Amino acid sequence: MTSWDPEQYRQFASERAQPFHDLLGLLRPGAIRRAVDLGCGPGELTALAAQRLRITEMVGVDHSPEMLSAASAHTSAGIRFEHGDIGRWTSAGDHDLVLAAASLQWVPDHPAVLAAWTAALAPGGQLAVQVPANSHAPTHMVATRVAHREPHRSAFGEAGPPSDPVADNVLAPDEYARLLFDLGYVDIHVHLRVYPHLLPSTRHAVEWVKGTTLTRFRNTLTPEQYERFLADYEHDLLAAMGDRSPCFFPFSRILFVARRPDERAGAAQ
Ligand SMILES: C[S@@+](CC[C@H](N)C(=O)[O-])C[C@H]1O[C@@H](n2cnc3c(N)ncnc32)[C@H](O)[C@@H]1O
Repeated sequence: MTSWDPEQYRQFASERAQPFHDLLGLLRPGAIRRAVDLGCGPGELTALAAQRLRITEMVGVDHSPEMLSAASAHTSAGIRFEHGDIGRWTSAGDHDLVLAAASLQWVPDHPAVLAAWTAALAPGGQLAVQVPANSHAPTHMVATRVAHREPHRSAFGEAGPPSDPVADNVLAPDEYARLLFDLGYVDIHVHLRVYPHLLPSTRHAVEWVKGTTLTRFRNTLTPEQYERFLADYEHDLLAAMGDRSPCFFPFSRILFVARRPDERAGAAQ
């Protein structure tokens, strides 16, 4: 399991919050009694969603003890946090909203996982998911390239370097649309959006990915091996992106929202 550093992750909190707000903005208005935020991370956005959507009962689920510990600061009467594996999570048709922001990419087999999440939705309930779609970006390509080069390659042992979960797991936007249709959803909205971030410098792009995609290397290597990997990574990334100040950092993400039909609503489908 990947261990997370909430402080490293929070460094780009406002840039990460924008797609979250956009995702909530795609939801159909209506009362939300029970909701779950799968892969809730440090909990700020879970609490924000609960407040903005006036959710009566919000549960944030994550498997990182560090993230859950940070999230506990946001516990309140209607918000709580639980340990769980989002790749196995499901419930019995009793949720009005299943939300997952920047977390689904960490688990494989999205058709099976989304089927399990769908089973958790009550009639009329909504699914709202955001995943990065940036496996082709220099930040990701360079990480894979450096990891497969010596001395790093050998440092990962027999198993080899961990692969990029975004490249392995994230589907194309139209594949998500078809999947949602096959799962019986209505009001299907799938968006591919490019967030045009402007970072102070290229080195800030390294800081960004240290809080996300590079965590898989930090978790596999010793601290010394990771430092060496990071130095080579930074060197190669600066060569690939240019040592710029400021640094334009476009970030592609897929956002999708869909609703389970509600037979009781009849013509209002
Ligand atoms: C990039 S953070 C996203 C946090 C938050 N949703 C946000 O939008 O800022 C991804 C989170 O997913 C969690 N995560 C990844 N795989 C998971 C799994 N299989 N089960 C539970 N949580 C998982 C990580 O621990 C991490 O907190």
